[in-house]
Amino acid sequence: MPAIPPIDTNRLAAANVAARIEHFEEISSTQTRARECAGDADCPLPLLVLADRQTAGRGRQGNTWWTGAGSLAFSLLFDPAMLGGARRLEPRVALAAGVAIVDAVSPRLPEHRVGLHWPNDVYVGSGKLAGVLVEVLADGRHILGIGVNSNNSAADAPPEMRSQVATLRDLSGQAHDQTQLSIDLLDCVTTRLRELWANDPRLLGSFDALCLQHDEALTLYLGERAVAGRCVGIGPDGALILDTQEGVQRFHAGTLRPALLPRQ
Ligand code: BTN
Repeated sequence: MPAIPPIDTNRLAAANVAARIEHFEEISSTQTRARECAGDADCPLPLLVLADRQTAGRGRQGNTWWTGAGSLAFSLLFDPAMLGGARRLEPRVALAAGVAIVDAVSPRLPEHRVGLHWPNDVYVGSGKLAGVLVEVLADGRHILGIGVNSNNSAADAPPEMRSQVATLRDLSGQAHDQTQLSIDLLDCVTTRLRELWANDPRLLGSFDALCLQHDEALTLYLGERAVAGRCVGIGPDGALILDTQEGVQRFHAGTLRPALLPRQ
């Protein structure tokens, strides 16, 4: 595989993807850096923080995020008021970002079905291609963290993760222009977030259309409570819909696992 060119921040700036861009070769977590920047009331928004390597990449619910060499990792600090709304819309923000990732990645993977695992993951088959982490600050500003397994390879992942990782490079057999991928993805993110705050049915309907878990037996953990059911889909409100022993129920939070796997 030829050497993969690093992100070109001048090209990103020329494409107007953010009001301010910070690029690090290595950082603990872009999410943490974006939060630090949020402390500066004069920080221009949206702020984009990218890193080639994260030493302590963060996932949802305290999980770590593996940022293998060649992967794409960034956090976007933005104010929803700039996108036409200020209401809090979790878990739909993560789902809208997931749809944006599918938009940007699918044309690069024409042979594969790329879709969503509720509430914040993008999968191809049984491999996780991307993850989304949304943090909402007290003043309503959002930090949207996105990690895409782009030009990294599952072969370099920690052994226990290898079978669960899908990467763009492994699936397509070629390296991708990381800067163009970032530009396309950030465009798609902006479009989908605008649609979200505008209640656009094109976006809200795509949660279910892209759901890869229809009909799967799943267990949702809500603290100590576990609810087992068959996945009916994802509602336009972002709810996971499960057909359980007590009937069809809708959930807005929780951690999902396949029903046959023991709880970790
Ligand atoms: C998850 O799958 O649980 C979410 C993963 C989110 C990872 C991204 S990578 C960029 C940003 N910085 C972080 O530390 N985490 C997010």
